[in-house]
Amino acid sequence: MLDKAQGLPADQVFLDLEDAVAPLAKPAARKNIVSVLNEGDWGSKTRVVRVNDLTTPWTYTDVIEIVEGAGANLDCIMLPKVQTPSHIEWLDLTLTQLEKTLGLPIGKIGIEAQIENAKGLVNVDAIAAASPRVETIIFGPADFMASINMKSLVVGALHPDYPGDPFHYILMRILMAARMHDKQAIDGPFLQIKDVDAFREVAKRSAALGFDGKWVLHPGQLDAANEIYSPSQSDYDHAELILDAYDYYTSEAGGKLGAVMLGDEMIDEASRKMALVISAKGRAAGMTRSSTFTPPSA
Ligand code: GLV
Ligand code: MG
Repeated sequence: MLDKAQGLPADQVFLDLEDAVAPLAKPAARKNIVSVLNEGDWGSKTRVVRVNDLTTPWTYTDVIEIVEGAGANLDCIMLPKVQTPSHIEWLDLTLTQLEKTLGLPIGKIGIEAQIENAKGLVNVDAIAAASPRVETIIFGPADFMASINMKSLVVGALHPDYPGDPFHYILMRILMAARMHDKQAIDGPFLQIKDVDAFREVAKRSAALGFDGKWVLHPGQLDAANEIYSPSQSDYDHAELILDAYDYYTSEAGGKLGAVMLGDEMIDEASRKMALVISAKGRAAGMTRSSTFTPPSA
């Protein structure tokens, strides 16, 4: 499975020491992860290891063994069930110690923080700000649902008894903290791995809000995730068109205009900012535009 993961079109791969590994299997899993990080060919993928959370007896040994064994071939540690900034501060200081001891650049190893309970969510701003190592805030829906006694077993899905999206507030709260502190916001897993249509429905909701991506637990979810968190071709083309048109109309040749019509739509500086977001997502996904802007006089 780990060999297969190396060739998949994912931006990141995370190797788990937490909930997917039984307590008695954790020591062997640490050794296995060290060797696949050192020996695998992960290309340009971000290489992440999820350690156990700080209420367990395993976190310290997880971090020491993984970073001592494979720190040079590791991009981030994912810390689950983060509840207060002190969890991040502990990891930051421990990583600094390890980097100093191992001769690695200080700050090389980033942190991904999973928000998985009410305390973590209430403290999410301070968690996001707790260290410059924090790169990503991740919603952990399964643990979160359990921690707030949500009356459902289908992670991330709408609930027939609730007239809205039960996850809206949680997702938005995480997104605001991530955007305030310039971090990535990532949605968590969808467990019914054979039901790709249901995965799509859940993924579309967090993508629409502005989340940057979502976990996939199975290669079958990957194409859907890549498609959903990238703009559609028509939105991407339209965003590039707005950027070119705005560039032209605000220039000397275009009349130094601030607000202009592009077809039936008025565009201004705020439109440019929205277009920049969509075009950046499209360019990052390697999309190519299928239309060009022609100035009216040409
Ligand atoms: C992921 O860790 C989750 O709890 O959903
Ligand atoms: Mg979890």
